[in-house]
Amino acid sequence: MAMIKAAVFASGTGSNFDAIVKASEAGGIPCDIQLLVCDRKDAVVITKAEQKNIDTFVFSPKEFDGKDAYERQILLECRERGIEWVFLAGYMRLIGPVLLEPFKNRIINIHPSLLPAFPGKDAIGQAFEKQVKVTGVTIHYIDDGMDTGPIIEQEAIRITAKDTKETLQQKIQAVEHSLYPKVIQSLLVEEEVH
Ligand code: GAR
Repeated sequence: MAMIKAAVFASGTGSNFDAIVKASEAGGIPCDIQLLVCDRKDAVVITKAEQKNIDTFVFSPKEFDGKDAYERQILLECRERGIEWVFLAGYMRLIGPVLLEPFKNRIINIHPSLLPAFPGKDAIGQAFEKQVKVTGVTIHYIDDGMDTGPIIEQEAIRITAKDTKETLQQKIQAVEHSLYPKVIQSLLVEEEVH
């Protein structure tokens, strides 16, 4: 199967970035992660990309004249490397039309709740505070809304009386790290077949 060139966009720790890169290195997913796009100069994920010799485009939105301007630069960075797919992994910004149009149906996101419940920031904290019994992980295509695009896959996680926000976060992240590579694998295989 042909290797697909992909970019990961992230803003934080990068545990999902790591899971995707490891799966691609192990041959578990047929893609090469060629670029990390990061909007925070102090994000831990940058070091992870550097250790793996993956190119990084790190920017500070304040240094650009608006979202269109920095997204045009991101598009350029992607085009220079022939990027075909984008995986959002804790990238805490909405994607605008400059990237949505050229990457139609090729930008996916992971979110730590069963959408449409608990969109936006701190989804794990929101679920914990509402005392729901079941939450989970969603992987979905991106549209112009906040965590609103068509859902591709979900996995439920039970919240028990013993759980703290920290243990819930650990359970969610463990599911994320196995679910994201699996979904990427099935989307890329599907694309190859059609
Ligand atoms: C992940 O839990 C991801 O689902 C979440 O950010 C975390 C990033 O962790 N994304 C969102 O909340 C998007 N709305 P990581 O940096 O360790 O991969």
